[in-house]
Amino acid sequence: MRINFSSAALAALSLAATVTAAPAELVKRQSTVKIMALGDSITGSPGCWRAYLWQKLQQAGIKNTDFVGTLAGQGCGFPYDGENEGHGGFLAVNIANQNQLPGWLSSTKPDIVIMHLGTNDVWNNRPPAQITTAFSKLVDQMRASKASMKILVAKIIPMKPSNCAECGARVVALNSAIGTWAAAKNTSSSTITVVDAWTGFDTVSMTGDGVHPNDAGNRKLADTWFQPLASAIRGLKI
Ligand SMILES: *[C@@H]1O[C@H](CO)[C@@H](O)[C@H](O)[C@H]1NC(C)=O
Repeated sequence: MRINFSSAALAALSLAATVTAAPAELVKRQSTVKIMALGDSITGSPGCWRAYLWQKLQQAGIKNTDFVGTLAGQGCGFPYDGENEGHGGFLAVNIANQNQLPGWLSSTKPDIVIMHLGTNDVWNNRPPAQITTAFSKLVDQMRASKASMKILVAKIIPMKPSNCAECGARVVALNSAIGTWAAAKNTSSSTITVVDAWTGFDTVSMTGDGVHPNDAGNRKLADTWFQPLASAIRGLKI
Protein backbone atom coordinates (compact mmCIF):
# COMPACT_ATOMS: atom_id res chain seq x y z
CA MET A 1 0.00 0.00 0.00
CA ARG A 2 1.36 3.38 -0.92
CA ILE A 3 0.30 6.66 0.57
CA ASN A 4 1.05 9.75 -1.48
CA PHE A 5 1.48 13.15 0.11
CA SER A 6 0.90 16.29 -1.93
CA SER A 7 3.84 18.68 -2.05
CA ALA A 8 1.76 21.19 -0.07
CA ALA A 9 1.21 18.59 2.66
CA LEU A 10 4.91 17.76 2.66
CA ALA A 11 5.80 21.44 2.96
CA ALA A 12 3.38 21.77 5.87
CA LEU A 13 4.92 18.66 7.48
CA SER A 14 8.47 19.95 7.19
CA LEU A 15 7.34 23.34 8.53
CA ALA A 16 5.69 21.62 11.49
CA ALA A 17 8.86 19.61 12.07
CA THR A 18 10.92 22.77 12.43
CA VAL A 19 8.47 24.11 15.03
CA THR A 20 8.10 21.08 17.27
CA ALA A 21 9.09 17.41 17.21
CA ALA A 22 6.21 14.95 17.04
CA PRO A 23 5.50 13.11 20.33
CA ALA A 24 7.22 9.74 20.51
CA GLU A 25 3.99 7.75 20.79
CA LEU A 26 2.66 9.44 17.66
CA VAL A 27 5.77 8.49 15.71
CA LYS A 28 5.52 4.92 16.96
CA ARG A 29 1.86 4.59 16.05
CA GLN A 30 2.48 5.89 12.56
CA SER A 31 5.45 3.68 11.74
CA THR A 32 4.54 1.14 9.13
CA VAL A 33 5.11 -2.56 9.63
CA LYS A 34 5.87 -4.43 6.43
CA ILE A 35 4.49 -7.94 6.26
CA MET A 36 5.41 -10.54 3.66
CA ALA A 37 3.12 -13.53 3.17
CA LEU A 38 5.35 -16.27 1.71
CA GLY A 39 4.01 -19.47 0.25
CA ASP A 40 2.43 -21.18 -2.72
CA SER A 41 -0.98 -21.06 -4.40
CA ILE A 42 -2.73 -21.36 -1.04
CA THR A 43 -1.23 -17.95 -0.26
CA GLY A 44 -1.23 -16.33 -3.69
CA SER A 45 -3.77 -17.79 -6.09
CA PRO A 46 -5.83 -15.98 -5.00
CA GLY A 47 -5.17 -16.54 -1.28
CA CYS A 48 -8.16 -14.54 -0.13
CA TRP A 49 -7.42 -15.42 3.50
CA ARG A 50 -4.95 -12.51 3.27
CA ALA A 51 -7.82 -10.19 2.33
CA TYR A 52 -9.86 -11.33 5.34
CA LEU A 53 -6.77 -11.07 7.53
CA TRP A 54 -6.12 -7.49 6.38
CA GLN A 55 -9.79 -6.69 7.03
CA LYS A 56 -9.62 -8.15 10.56
CA LEU A 57 -6.51 -6.08 11.33
CA GLN A 58 -8.26 -2.93 10.08
CA GLN A 59 -11.33 -3.71 12.18
CA ALA A 60 -9.07 -4.18 15.22
CA GLY A 61 -7.59 -0.73 14.59
CA ILE A 62 -4.24 -2.13 13.41
CA LYS A 63 -3.76 0.05 10.36
CA ASN A 64 0.00 0.64 10.35
CA THR A 65 0.58 -2.33 8.04
CA ASP A 66 1.94 -2.67 4.55
CA PHE A 67 1.61 -6.11 3.02
CA VAL A 68 4.56 -6.48 0.65
CA GLY A 69 5.61 -8.81 -2.12
CA THR A 70 6.59 -8.91 -5.76
CA LEU A 71 3.20 -10.39 -6.71
CA ALA A 72 0.07 -8.24 -6.99
CA GLY A 73 -3.05 -9.17 -5.08
CA GLN A 74 -5.93 -10.81 -6.91
CA GLY A 75 -9.59 -9.98 -6.60
CA CYS A 76 -11.32 -11.09 -3.40
CA GLY A 77 -14.53 -9.06 -3.63
CA PHE A 78 -13.39 -5.99 -1.72
CA PRO A 79 -10.33 -3.72 -1.73
CA TYR A 80 -7.40 -4.87 0.42
CA ASP A 81 -3.63 -4.58 0.56
CA GLY A 82 -2.76 -7.59 -1.55
CA GLU A 83 0.94 -7.74 -2.44
CA ASN A 84 2.40 -11.13 -1.53
CA GLU A 85 4.95 -13.87 -2.25
CA GLY A 86 2.49 -16.69 -2.77
CA HIS A 87 3.97 -18.51 -5.77
CA GLY A 88 1.64 -21.17 -7.16
CA GLY A 89 3.21 -24.61 -7.45
CA PHE A 90 6.46 -23.68 -5.69
CA LEU A 91 8.24 -26.06 -3.33
CA ALA A 92 10.15 -24.80 -0.31
CA VAL A 93 13.14 -26.93 -1.34
CA ASN A 94 13.26 -25.30 -4.77
CA ILE A 95 12.86 -21.76 -3.42
CA ALA A 96 15.81 -22.49 -1.13
CA ASN A 97 17.98 -24.34 -3.66
CA GLN A 98 17.44 -21.69 -6.32
CA ASN A 99 18.03 -18.81 -3.90
CA GLN A 100 14.82 -17.10 -4.88
CA LEU A 101 14.01 -15.51 -1.53
CA PRO A 102 16.88 -12.96 -1.22
CA GLY A 103 15.68 -11.06 -4.29
CA TRP A 104 12.11 -10.97 -3.00
CA LEU A 105 13.36 -9.73 0.37
CA SER A 106 15.60 -7.01 -1.04
CA SER A 107 12.75 -5.75 -3.24
CA THR A 108 10.29 -5.47 -0.37
CA LYS A 109 12.20 -5.30 2.97
CA PRO A 110 9.65 -6.92 5.30
CA ASP A 111 9.71 -6.68 9.12
CA ILE A 112 7.55 -9.77 9.54
CA VAL A 113 7.32 -12.86 7.36
CA ILE A 114 4.29 -15.12 7.63
CA MET A 115 4.99 -18.40 5.87
CA HIS A 116 2.62 -21.18 4.86
CA LEU A 117 4.85 -23.41 2.78
CA GLY A 118 5.49 -27.10 2.18
CA THR A 119 2.26 -28.27 0.57
CA ASN A 120 3.89 -28.85 -2.81
CA ASP A 121 6.91 -30.45 -1.16
CA VAL A 122 4.58 -32.91 0.56
CA TRP A 123 2.69 -33.54 -2.68
CA ASN A 124 6.04 -34.30 -4.37
CA ASN A 125 6.98 -36.60 -1.50
CA ARG A 126 9.91 -34.59 -0.15
CA PRO A 127 10.75 -35.88 3.33
CA PRO A 128 10.20 -33.57 6.32
CA ALA A 129 13.93 -33.25 7.04
CA GLN A 130 14.56 -31.96 3.52
CA ILE A 131 11.76 -29.43 3.91
CA THR A 132 12.93 -28.14 7.30
CA THR A 133 16.50 -27.91 5.97
CA ALA A 134 15.09 -25.65 3.25
CA PHE A 135 13.18 -23.68 5.91
CA SER A 136 16.47 -23.14 7.80
CA LYS A 137 18.07 -21.65 4.71
CA LEU A 138 15.04 -19.41 4.15
CA VAL A 139 15.16 -18.24 7.77
CA ASP A 140 18.90 -17.49 7.44
CA GLN A 141 18.12 -15.42 4.35
CA MET A 142 15.33 -13.59 6.18
CA ARG A 143 17.73 -12.76 9.03
CA ALA A 144 20.36 -11.60 6.52
CA SER A 145 17.74 -9.17 5.19
CA LYS A 146 16.78 -8.03 8.69
CA ALA A 147 18.53 -9.34 11.81
CA SER A 148 15.43 -8.92 13.97
CA MET A 149 12.99 -10.45 11.48
CA LYS A 150 9.84 -11.75 13.14
CA ILE A 151 8.93 -15.06 11.54
CA LEU A 152 5.55 -16.77 11.78
CA VAL A 153 5.58 -20.29 10.35
CA ALA A 154 2.44 -22.29 9.79
CA LYS A 155 1.88 -25.88 10.59
CA ILE A 156 0.22 -26.24 7.19
CA ILE A 157 -3.40 -27.03 6.54
CA PRO A 158 -4.32 -30.67 5.93
CA MET A 159 -4.60 -31.94 2.38
CA LYS A 160 -6.54 -34.71 0.69
CA PRO A 161 -6.08 -34.41 -3.09
CA SER A 162 -7.62 -37.21 -5.14
CA ASN A 163 -4.20 -38.23 -6.51
CA CYS A 164 -2.40 -38.58 -3.17
CA ALA A 165 -3.77 -40.92 -0.53
CA GLU A 166 -0.56 -40.52 1.50
CA CYS A 167 -0.56 -36.74 1.57
CA GLY A 168 -2.72 -36.42 4.68
CA ALA A 169 -0.25 -38.43 6.77
CA ARG A 170 2.73 -36.68 5.18
CA VAL A 171 1.35 -33.30 6.27
CA VAL A 172 1.03 -34.58 9.83
CA ALA A 173 4.68 -35.72 9.73
CA LEU A 174 5.83 -32.37 8.31
CA ASN A 175 3.90 -30.40 10.90
CA SER A 176 5.44 -32.45 13.69
CA ALA A 177 8.91 -31.76 12.26
CA ILE A 178 8.09 -28.03 11.99
CA GLY A 179 7.43 -27.87 15.73
CA THR A 180 10.82 -29.38 16.60
CA TRP A 181 12.67 -27.42 13.92
CA ALA A 182 11.18 -24.05 14.92
CA ALA A 183 12.17 -24.42 18.58
CA ALA A 184 15.75 -25.22 17.57
CA LYS A 185 15.99 -22.39 15.03
CA ASN A 186 14.40 -19.81 17.35
CA THR A 187 16.44 -16.89 18.68
CA SER A 188 15.51 -14.12 21.09
CA SER A 189 16.34 -11.39 18.55
CA SER A 190 14.51 -13.03 15.65
CA THR A 191 11.70 -15.12 17.06
CA ILE A 192 9.95 -17.90 15.21
CA THR A 193 6.31 -18.39 16.15
CA VAL A 194 4.60 -21.59 15.07
CA VAL A 195 1.03 -20.99 13.96
CA ASP A 196 -1.14 -24.09 13.90
CA ALA A 197 -3.22 -23.88 10.72
CA TRP A 198 -3.87 -27.63 10.72
CA THR A 199 -6.06 -27.98 13.79
CA GLY A 200 -9.71 -27.37 13.03
CA PHE A 201 -9.18 -27.08 9.28
CA ASP A 202 -11.47 -29.52 7.49
CA THR A 203 -10.51 -30.46 3.90
CA VAL A 204 -14.11 -31.48 3.11
CA SER A 205 -15.95 -28.30 4.12
CA MET A 206 -13.06 -25.81 3.75
CA THR A 207 -11.62 -26.75 0.34
CA GLY A 208 -13.08 -27.52 -3.06
CA ASP A 209 -10.30 -29.84 -4.22
CA GLY A 210 -8.80 -31.19 -1.02
CA VAL A 211 -5.99 -28.61 -1.18
CA HIS A 212 -7.05 -25.02 -1.81
CA PRO A 213 -9.19 -23.16 0.72
CA ASN A 214 -12.69 -22.17 -0.35
CA ASP A 215 -14.38 -19.18 1.27
CA ALA A 216 -14.92 -21.04 4.55
CA GLY A 217 -11.28 -22.14 4.47
CA ASN A 218 -10.06 -18.62 3.79
CA ARG A 219 -12.07 -17.28 6.73
CA LYS A 220 -10.64 -20.05 8.91
CA LEU A 221 -7.07 -19.23 7.83
CA ALA A 222 -7.61 -15.53 8.50
CA ASP A 223 -8.86 -16.38 12.00
CA THR A 224 -5.80 -18.60 12.52
CA TRP A 225 -3.27 -15.93 11.54
CA PHE A 226 -4.97 -12.95 13.16
CA GLN A 227 -3.90 -13.21 16.83
CA PRO A 228 -0.28 -14.22 16.25
CA LEU A 229 0.16 -11.57 13.55
CA ALA A 230 -1.52 -8.85 15.62
CA SER A 231 0.80 -9.73 18.53
CA ALA A 232 3.85 -9.60 16.27
CA ILE A 233 2.84 -6.19 14.89
CA ARG A 234 2.11 -4.76 18.34
CA GLY A 235 5.36 -6.18 19.70
CA LEU A 236 7.52 -4.53 17.08
CA LYS A 237 9.54 -1.51 18.07
CA ILE A 238 10.61 0.08 14.84
C1 LIG B 1 10.75 -18.52 20.43
O1 LIG B 1 11.08 -17.74 21.54
C2 LIG B 1 10.02 -16.90 21.98
C3 LIG B 1 10.54 -16.09 23.16
O2 LIG B 1 11.75 -15.47 22.86
C4 LIG B 1 8.81 -17.72 22.36
O3 LIG B 1 7.75 -16.87 22.68
C5 LIG B 1 8.42 -18.63 21.21
O4 LIG B 1 7.38 -19.50 21.61
C6 LIG B 1 9.60 -19.44 20.75
N1 LIG B 1 9.23 -20.23 19.58
C7 LIG B 1 9.36 -21.55 19.50
C8 LIG B 1 8.96 -22.18 18.23
O5 LIG B 1 9.80 -22.22 20.41
